[in-house]
Amino acid sequence: MWKTQCLIDGAWLGEPVDAIDDPATGEIVGHVPRLGAVEAFAAAAAADRAFRDWSGMLAKDRSRLLRSWFDLILQQRQELAALLTAEQGKPLAEALAEIDYAASFVEYYADEARRVYGETIPSHRTDARILVWKQPIGVCAAITPWNFPAAMVTRKVAPALAAGCTVVLKPAPETPLSALALAELAVRAGLPAGTLNVITGDAAAIGRAWCEDVRVRSLSFTGSTEVGKLLMRQCADTVKRVSLELGGNAPFIVFDDADVAAAADGAVAAKFRNMGQTCICANRLFVQERVHDEFVAALIERVGRLRVGDGREAGVTQGPLINAAAVTKVEEHLADAVKHGARIRCGGQHHPLGRTFFEPTVLEGVTPEMRICREETFGPLAPVIMFSSEEEALTLANSVSTGLAGYFYGRDIGRVIRVAERLQVGMVGVNTPALSNEAAPFGGVKESGLGREGGRHGIEEFLELKYVVLGGLGG
Ligand code: SIN
Repeated sequence: MWKTQCLIDGAWLGEPVDAIDDPATGEIVGHVPRLGAVEAFAAAAAADRAFRDWSGMLAKDRSRLLRSWFDLILQQRQELAALLTAEQGKPLAEALAEIDYAASFVEYYADEARRVYGETIPSHRTDARILVWKQPIGVCAAITPWNFPAAMVTRKVAPALAAGCTVVLKPAPETPLSALALAELAVRAGLPAGTLNVITGDAAAIGRAWCEDVRVRSLSFTGSTEVGKLLMRQCADTVKRVSLELGGNAPFIVFDDADVAAAADGAVAAKFRNMGQTCICANRLFVQERVHDEFVAALIERVGRLRVGDGREAGVTQGPLINAAAVTKVEEHLADAVKHGARIRCGGQHHPLGRTFFEPTVLEGVTPEMRICREETFGPLAPVIMFSSEEEALTLANSVSTGLAGYFYGRDIGRVIRVAERLQVGMVGVNTPALSNEAAPFGGVKESGLGREGGRHGIEEFLELKYVVLGGLGG
C-alpha cells in the first residue's frame, strides 16, 4: 500500500478525506488530504530550511540520491503503472511507458547534477578576473497535471533537486496518488526531510500561497493556458522565475510526397496517445489534396483497429476520458464541426461502455473556422483539413495563439528545412510522431509557455547566474 498522506518536512500528515475516482469504473481508488494555504506555507518554510544543507551538499552525493530514487522507481514500475491506470485511466502499456519515461528524467538529472559548470570570461582589465557561477535558485514550486501524473512530476522535481533546489509540489486533484507514491520512493531513497514536500487539497489556495510566498523563488507549472496566465500574474508581485508548459493546438501536416502509410501510423500515435489528452497531441490534421483520400482511408483503417475499454484489460489501446467535462468538450467540438459541414467518417459517438468512454473519431471536410481547429480538443477527435500549397499549410498551421508542437510528413529536403524553420512551435516532429524523451528541450512558444523541460536546458530553469569580479590582482 502506498502512502496517501501529504509530505511536509519529512512527516506524513493530513487525514485522507478527498476521494479519487477511477475514470473507467467510477470506483474510489483512494483518498488524499484536503490541505490549503496554511499547509502550503508550512511546506515552503520546510523547503526553505532544507535548502542550505541540500544546496551545500556535494553534487555527487545529490547525484547518488537521485540514482537511488531512479532504481526504486524501476523496481516498482508495475505497481506504479497499476496505480497510474487506476487513477488516470490510460491503458496499462501506456502507464508502464509513462513510468519508464518518468524514471528517465530522474536518471538523466542524476548525471546532470555533476555537470553544472560555470564560466570564466576574458577580463576587461589586466588586474581583474571575471567568473560566472551557476547557483540553485532556491525553493521551487511545482504544479503538475493529471494527464501525465508521474512523468510531469519527475520532469520538474528531478532537475530542481539536481540543481540543488528544494521543492514544494502540488499534483493535480484528479491524480495525486502517483505523485505521493513517487515521493514515498524518494524518501526511501534517502532524500533529507524538507527537500521534497507534497501537498494535496485546495488547488487555488495552495497555488496562490506559493505564488505570494517570497521564499518560493520559482514556479514550474504544466496545465491550461488560462491557469498558466493566472499563476504568472500571481507571481508578478514577488518577481519569481516562471516556467510554463501550457496548452497546444498541434498541426500535423501531410505533404503530397509523404509516405502516406507512415503518415497515417504517425497520425494515430500523435492523435490518440492517452485518448488525445496530451498537450502535444495532433489537434489539426492538414492533408495536401493529392494524397487526401488515400490518407483518410489509411487513417480510418488504423483507427478501426483501436480498442476502447478499461485500461487494465489486455489489448485495450484507448481508455476513458478523465471526467464528464472532458466528454462534454469533445461532444461540443464534434457538434460544432458537423453543424458547419464536417463529415464523420468513423466513430462520433459515446462508446457503448458509457461513462467517460468515447469512440475514436475521424472527421473530414473540416475548415479552420470550426471550434475543433481554433481550440485544443483534448480528446479522441481527428479533424482532417485539406490544403493545396505549402504556403497555405504554413499559414493555417501558424494561425493560432499557441505554439507547442508541430508535425509534418514529406520527403523534399528543401521543404523539410523550410517548414521546420517556419512552423511557430517549440518542437517539430519530421516524419515521426515521437517527440518526448528525457534528453531534448520540451516546451513551447507564443501562449504555449515559457522555458524548457528536459535535457541540459531543463536544469537551467532552476539555476541563477552570479557574476563575480576579482579585482586588485596586479598585472
Ligand atoms: C504533456 O502533455 O504536456 C506532456 C506530453 C509528453 O511529455 O509527452
